[in-house]
Amino acid sequence: MTETQTTSETGTPLIEVRDIVKHFGSVIALGGVSMKVHSGEVLCLLGDNGAGKSTLIKTLSGVHAPTGGSFLVDGKPVSFGSPREALDAGIATVYQDLAMIPLMSITRNFFMGREPLKGVGPFKYMDMAHADQVTRDEMHRIGIDVRDPQQAVGTLSGGERQCVAIARAVYFGAKVLILDEPTSALGVAQTSMVLKYINQVRAKGLGVIFITHNVRHAYAVGNRFTVLNRGKTLGTHGKDEITIDALQNLMAGGKELQDLGAELGGTI
Ligand SMILES: Nc1ncnc2c1ncn2[C@@H]1O[C@H](COP(=O)(O)OP(=O)(O)O)[C@@H](O)[C@H]1O
Ligand SMILES: [Mg+2]
Repeated sequence: MTETQTTSETGTPLIEVRDIVKHFGSVIALGGVSMKVHSGEVLCLLGDNGAGKSTLIKTLSGVHAPTGGSFLVDGKPVSFGSPREALDAGIATVYQDLAMIPLMSITRNFFMGREPLKGVGPFKYMDMAHADQVTRDEMHRIGIDVRDPQQAVGTLSGGERQCVAIARAVYFGAKVLILDEPTSALGVAQTSMVLKYINQVRAKGLGVIFITHNVRHAYAVGNRFTVLNRGKTLGTHGKDEITIDALQNLMAGGKELQDLGAELGGTI
């Protein structure tokens, strides 16, 4: 299978996995998956429930150690012992639950665990004015006007919260951003806000891995598409190599659906 050659793809990938295998006891969650992401591109990871998407990104983000295969960051082999190590290497993952505390302020959530401190020795305290300013500026950049960064993050819309989580990862220096189903719980307007932001982040030169089972969302922002099925990859296609319909068929096990449609005497 040939891969599209765009300028972003000629350099060393930011991250690459080759023949990654992950077993959970007798369950083979990943049976030899290869993929890579370059600076300035959105790689979409598509696949039905149970395909192995979460297992793959948990392997990339240091949650799981792979059973086999190799993992390269900037062309060098790595093995992460914890999510902290992956984060230090610039790989940030935004999970579906967002790891936010709804009743805490936007600023608190933005800086969680990385509060800017003021003062000396044991008398350090959080520099809230500075943190508020950063939060307001960063949100403004995305086009979200936060009147009061002290308002509870739970008062924001789902799309806005998703953007806060992404902005937080970008602000703290992510090179690769892994987004696990960021649009699955959102309506149309909120989805488009998040997709626009993903595109902005890509344009800044980050590599984005966008996990979704929505082909339209993937096609709107993706540069390349990797489809997983039962722990194996069905290949990677550049946007100019595959139509949205072909991608949909590949992803949904289109053949099975067509057969079912024929059996039911119609189309699905
Ligand atoms: N911690 C685990 N222990 C045992 N089996 C697991 C574990 N995590 C995932 N699996 C299995 O691995 C397969 C892939 O799951 P997952 O990566 O969550 O798929 P997806 O995210 O694409 O829905 C499934 O069969 C799932 O039951
Ligand atoms: Mg999953």
